[in-house]
Amino acid sequence: MAIRSRNDAFSRGRAPRWLAGVAMGALLVQIPAAFADDDWSFEGESTRLEDLGPEQFNALGEYTTGIVCTQCHGWTEIVDRPRQTPEQWDYIVSSMIARGAEASPEQVDLVRRWLKWVWGVVSVNSATAEDIAAVTGLPIEQAEAIVAYREEKGPFSDFESLKQVPGVDASILDSRVDAFMFH
Ligand code: HEC
Repeated sequence: MAIRSRNDAFSRGRAPRWLAGVAMGALLVQIPAAFADDDWSFEGESTRLEDLGPEQFNALGEYTTGIVCTQCHGWTEIVDRPRQTPEQWDYIVSSMIARGAEASPEQVDLVRRWLKWVWGVVSVNSATAEDIAAVTGLPIEQAEAIVAYREEKGPFSDFESLKQVPGVDASILDSRVDAFMFH
């Protein structure tokens, strides 16, 4: 699934807005069957990245965000901007809820996690392990290993130095190369 290129196209404003609707419609077939009901409450169902895997998490997150976040404005309002830190996404989502976005707590939680993962940025030299895990999709133990390594050896200078941390899945890091800041 061309997750990355699709988001990139929307984020740079090259794709017309109606195409976002078409893309989201197409995703319907890919969301996990357990979620394909009408109420989208996710009650009793895990929507965690670790449980769903990246493709299904992306499909479900994008679909849910499309429902929750395009009630008042378009999709480009959300992705046509630089990547945001987890703190910034939390602030944006909370302020949209305050403006009247309608969603269950489970939907809001998924929207927050999906936005951070798909369009987040994190400073590996100052962020918490939770925020590193949220943006990169690394398991929390691996994000904790990054923080422990940083505390022991000092700040990371670049992406390659980050890959020296023992036990961290380099393929996940590679898939998130634009999501790191080193200051
Ligand atoms: C109830 C209507 C409503 C819903 C639903 C809504 N928004 Fe908004 N959003 C607004 C309004 C109104 C503005 C413009 C207000 C402003 O810029 O202060 C806005 C602006 C934004 C901006 C631009 C803010 C800026 O500072 O440039 C972003 C990003 C955004 N929304 C994201 C989201 C996300 C993510 C969701 C889903 C969680 C969402 N919106 C759902 C009403 C809504």
